[in-house]
Amino acid sequence: MAVAARTDLAFQQCIAPACGATFSVDEVLTSCPLCGNLLDVTYDWDRLPAPNSFELFERKWMRRSDPLALSGVWRFHELLPFAPRESVVTIGEGQTLLSVSDGVGRYIGMNPGQLHLQYEGLNPSGSFKDNGMSAAFSHARMIGATRAACASTGNTSASLAVYCAVTRLMRGIIFIGSGKISYGKLSQALDYGALTIQIAGDFDDAMARVKEVAGKTNIYLVNSVNPFRLEGQKTIMYRVLESLGWEVPDWIVVPGGNLGNSSSFGKAFAELRHLGLIDRIPRLAVINAAGANTLYELFHNRGLRWNGGQADLAPVCHYYDELDRGEKRADTLASAIEINRPVNLNKCLRALEVCDGVVREVTEQEILDAKAQVGAGGLGCEPASAASVAGARKLVNEGVIGRDDRVVCILTGHQLKDPNATVAYHTTDQELFNEVLGSRGVSRASFANRAVTVGNRIDDIIQAIDLYS
Ligand code: F0G
Repeated sequence: MAVAARTDLAFQQCIAPACGATFSVDEVLTSCPLCGNLLDVTYDWDRLPAPNSFELFERKWMRRSDPLALSGVWRFHELLPFAPRESVVTIGEGQTLLSVSDGVGRYIGMNPGQLHLQYEGLNPSGSFKDNGMSAAFSHARMIGATRAACASTGNTSASLAVYCAVTRLMRGIIFIGSGKISYGKLSQALDYGALTIQIAGDFDDAMARVKEVAGKTNIYLVNSVNPFRLEGQKTIMYRVLESLGWEVPDWIVVPGGNLGNSSSFGKAFAELRHLGLIDRIPRLAVINAAGANTLYELFHNRGLRWNGGQADLAPVCHYYDELDRGEKRADTLASAIEINRPVNLNKCLRALEVCDGVVREVTEQEILDAKAQVGAGGLGCEPASAASVAGARKLVNEGVIGRDDRVVCILTGHQLKDPNATVAYHTTDQELFNEVLGSRGVSRASFANRAVTVGNRIDDIIQAIDLYS
């Protein structure tokens, strides 16, 4: 094992303060070999040419013919300086949008101009995962990996598959649970040519198996236990700040599944503050689906805290035992976040401490209604993404988020990832509604935009248009 040399400017480090072991960036690790905790990519900022203003990044807009300046990830290379320029892999990720949405803002109870939606659906594979995948691929290229794998609820696999197809750097292998992945995402992985291993089980099973496989082979793991992936995901926050003229918002609201995003956001803000680029940190709200609510249960209901790295993790084991004994499986229409054993739990607890965060859970009904509102505003998202909006609404109702706070909800994935849920919500076919949504406790489609059925006669058609438009 290559321990990081004292001279290294970037190294891997165990997040447990009591351990803090360091390892070279040339090492492929997904947990600390000494104590088993998660690893960070850490930088010696005092010796790096760290930026002392955001102006550096603005200037890169002028050089957009350079793929590294065009990439919404690598434009911020100085803030994730683990890979030399020649190792960087980019396929044009991170060309995303932050927009004010007064329609959705009104729905969640906010005053005009305050609710912002960060739309990650514009990434090459249609979700935020590409931010992290470009960073993981850059690391994989540094160490010469030839095969890469992930377990996935769908988006990580689509992202891995597209990076393999475009770059031809590695063979992609994806592990999925049976029946647990939406067709939009599965179709991407198949179309891009990834080797698809469907195991009898759910995401938590697939995650456990792929970690074992990576441990026994030289297959490079690109799930978010890979600390390099989270370096790429930090840039979502850099782009949010960039779009806000480098002003820090009051709240970042994000869905929580495997908890990679929330973890990376906390790290991004802690580092920016350390570098003196920002003087305050936004609050973070992580939103679970009620059917996959481990973080909510442990953080909100059972008081689990990072506690400066001294977290008492006994309640976690206890909770997982409870799940096993009750044979309780994650179950939500928001299939992207249908996860009961989030691998980044410890890092997320740390992020919640750094960002004075809160955790909430939202029901299927709340998710789908929020999703319909987001769609009506023109930024279609998949159900998991809408959890952020549903969660923000809950927090405004509770008075935790103020009506005049500046709030950014992250829309993590594109609407076309999971059209079934959308069509079932808007359908006139009661049987379809009951089958897809009713069976999961959704009783109404409050914002349905139903198709109008008419005979194939011109007069009837014109009459229907006049009636409804
Ligand atoms: N939103 C979408 C659209 C996702 O695909 C995921 C995770 C999340 C939210 C949760 O993000 O894990 O950072 O808390 N999808 C993973 C996958 C697990 O396999 O595609 P997280």
